[in-house]
Amino acid sequence: MTYSIAASHAQGKCAKDKIFGANAAAGRAVAQYGKDKVVNATIGAFMDEQEILACIPTVEKVYRNLAIKDVISYAPIAGLPDFLDSFINLTFADHKPDAHIEAIATAGGSGAIHHTIWNYSEIGDTVLTSDWYWGPYNILCQDGLRKLDTYTLFDEEQKFNIRSFSTKVKELLSKQNNLIIIINTPAHNPTGFSLTDSDWDNVLALLKECAQDTTKRIIPLIDVAYIDYAGEKNTCRAFFEKLGGLPFNILPILACSMSKGFTMYGQRTGAMIGISSSKEVIQEFKDINQFTSRATWSNINHGAMKVLATIYQDKELLQQLEQERTEYYALIRKRADIFMNEAKQVNLHMLPYIAGFFLTIPTKQPDAVCEKLHDDNIFAVPLAKGIRIAVCAVTVEKITGMAGKIAKAIAAIEK
Ligand SMILES: Cc1ncc(COP(=O)(O)O)c(C=O)c1O
Repeated sequence: MTYSIAASHAQGKCAKDKIFGANAAAGRAVAQYGKDKVVNATIGAFMDEQEILACIPTVEKVYRNLAIKDVISYAPIAGLPDFLDSFINLTFADHKPDAHIEAIATAGGSGAIHHTIWNYSEIGDTVLTSDWYWGPYNILCQDGLRKLDTYTLFDEEQKFNIRSFSTKVKELLSKQNNLIIIINTPAHNPTGFSLTDSDWDNVLALLKECAQDTTKRIIPLIDVAYIDYAGEKNTCRAFFEKLGGLPFNILPILACSMSKGFTMYGQRTGAMIGISSSKEVIQEFKDINQFTSRATWSNINHGAMKVLATIYQDKELLQQLEQERTEYYALIRKRADIFMNEAKQVNLHMLPYIAGFFLTIPTKQPDAVCEKLHDDNIFAVPLAKGIRIAVCAVTVEKITGMAGKIAKAIAAIEK
């Protein structure tokens, strides 16, 4: 670049999104060969068996019946009180931790991550996440003048790598007093991995040990964007109870989203939920994050908040919603199962998938493998060390046979 008019901290910012790039390539192939011939495994949204973006019917019904005033009027900056209460209850289900708990409405889960980074790490600090991670974490850190570092998510047995996690946590805490650790579970993007309850015991034991030094402040930012597609409702939420009774200098924050759970991706609605043993920490959580909302987007989407509150407050609607979502989950599961079974048959190594929208095949040459897959009109997202397949978006028919084609493409490239 020769001339820049931007402030020094903004110069050179440019997000090249590989996901949208891969999706655009799939679009071109559809135009050339027809929809039937193209497998678009790049989309991070649930597509039904007709390859149409699905909206949970109860969500659509409630949304279309909203009074216009509930759509067009300003909402309170912190969020509609009914929405916040409802979202807290839906998020925890039967496993609400014994703690002080408050929520603030955010522009999607992304907004919750944004506020956490801004308000709980110092400028210049390093935020920690796993080596397989959702790309925007890095953009959010960079834009907020923070850095992102990673630990190795899996050990040799493909289990949660608590050793690597501990080493990195301790290393960073020796250099800085505040540490945000982004943990995307259950149903991690891009692998579909979920921490087990005993992984959580190990994580929390380590954080408690580190928190004995009371100059340190540890913020586990738990990104639960995919929790509604992570398995049986209460089983996949059992770990939440472990977040009660923690030392004052550990503040778990949940980044919650209506994008997937309510199929309202474009309505940009979510919440951050703070969990603390300290009333003061939670009062501060409310105050500072509300302030940052005012400074970032003011208030968020009123209509979407009203949809969630309306559904939660009507048992019948809630039951319907859960039933409809369970059907979507079952379909995603079926597609993932087909892929996993075929992967086993053709000896295609994949990362441990438990649930969720995506699965990942590790490879040393992700870009070349994705390019090779274009020969079969398969479009996937190249990551740093693998390729991501959106099982949420590929029909049962089209996912059948896909593992074999990927195995062949990898063999051709890595020979
Ligand atoms: C891992 C992860 N976290 C958070 C989000 C946040 O989504 P939104 O900002 O749409 O709520 C997404 C969406 O793709 C995601 O994949």
